[in-house]
Amino acid sequence: MLPLFRAYPRLADALPYVPLGEFPTPVERPTALGQALGLAALYVKRDDRSGRIYGGNKVRTLEFLLARAVNRDARRVFTLGFAGSNYALATAVYARQLGLRCTSVLLPQANAGYVRLNLLASHHHGADLCHTAHLVTTPFAVVTQAVRCLIREGGRVAFLPPGGSSPLGTVGYVNAAFELRDQIVAGELPEPDVIYTALGSMGTAAGLMLGLRAAGLRTRVVPIRIIEPWLAGPGRLLSLLRGASALLSRSDPGFPRLTWRLRDVQMRGDQLGSGYARFTGQGVRAARLLQDTAGIPANGAYTAKAFAALVGDAAAGVLAGKVVLFWNTFNSRDLAGVVATADFRRLPRQFHLYFTGALQPLDRQNTSAQLSGSPDQLFSWGSGFIPPARMRWMPATRAGFNPAPTMARRTLRCCW
Ligand SMILES: Cc1ncc(COP(=O)(O)O)c(C=O)c1O
Repeated sequence: MLPLFRAYPRLADALPYVPLGEFPTPVERPTALGQALGLAALYVKRDDRSGRIYGGNKVRTLEFLLARAVNRDARRVFTLGFAGSNYALATAVYARQLGLRCTSVLLPQANAGYVRLNLLASHHHGADLCHTAHLVTTPFAVVTQAVRCLIREGGRVAFLPPGGSSPLGTVGYVNAAFELRDQIVAGELPEPDVIYTALGSMGTAAGLMLGLRAAGLRTRVVPIRIIEPWLAGPGRLLSLLRGASALLSRSDPGFPRLTWRLRDVQMRGDQLGSGYARFTGQGVRAARLLQDTAGIPANGAYTAKAFAALVGDAAAGVLAGKVVLFWNTFNSRDLAGVVATADFRRLPRQFHLYFTGALQPLDRQNTSAQLSGSPDQLFSWGSGFIPPARMRWMPATRAGFNPAPTMARRTLRCCW
């Protein structure tokens, strides 16, 4: 039984839940890495191993969201993300496992090896991928695709929130905090002073913050924002915390009634660099350190930036004497088999540019492919010249490879 349900049994009756992953995920103490950073008590929570086929943070989220889809008799799930979304891939993998079809509407983003890998893997796992050319056209693409799916499935479509970060999806990480408490009680690690984790759609950080407080732990979460502030600001984190708290205390009146104020929701934005999914020099160096000393692959868009913040704080001496936990949210299951048999030409045409176009420079230099956590083969595909971005106001694609201008011409067609 989930640690959260053990603590509050009425939640087990009230909330939809289906086991998908392999829990508890291990906590490790990578001593060589700790020494390299001058940290005596550095631990890593290996959520990268949360699933047999595909790990990472979204497995915990999907155990609740997909259970509700199944309970509501859905035949298809529908979600929205960026082209290389780890969440869209996790949804494709686990929806299929439950016999659900999956449609993902995907926004353009900076190109990277992991984008290629995730597109191929989502396709391999049967997801219908639809490209939306631009943020501005996204509502149109979403509505047309949604209507199409509803007609095809006789109305039996479950709409999942972007990143899975609704109050219900957030419960997955409330449970994760209770899982951590069990591991502390079992002596696997001392109570951490701080947890570093990447913050995107916010469900991971919100669930941990809520769960740690409910579980009576004093541990502070340091959420490292890896996306633009207008997509992930403190106000949204606050409303997610309030929504998830309300859901839990409504579902089990014994669950503590927690109040959240703006001062509770501090987040760090100093690792974002030039935008979402744009790799940074600090992130690249941190990812290499993590891989070379602890054998843990990092993702340039997410965990590399979160770990870079930890590395920076360790170097600045602010973590001296502290118990530090890095919550590793990026999948480490090997997807090389998927790539070996994949042909990107089987993807919808709008996605081919990710394979024929250049990777962003910091990913290109990363010939060992470790930064993306992607098989080397992905890096051998095209490096054709892509015209520089014209839509500079769009943060996700501000510099480097930007497929949006070419794809914008196909906006109408790409939705069908
Ligand atoms: C590898 C990885 N880490 C962290 C995050 C951020 O998690 P959240 O969206 O819950 O804030 C994501 C989001 O997709 C992710 O893919």
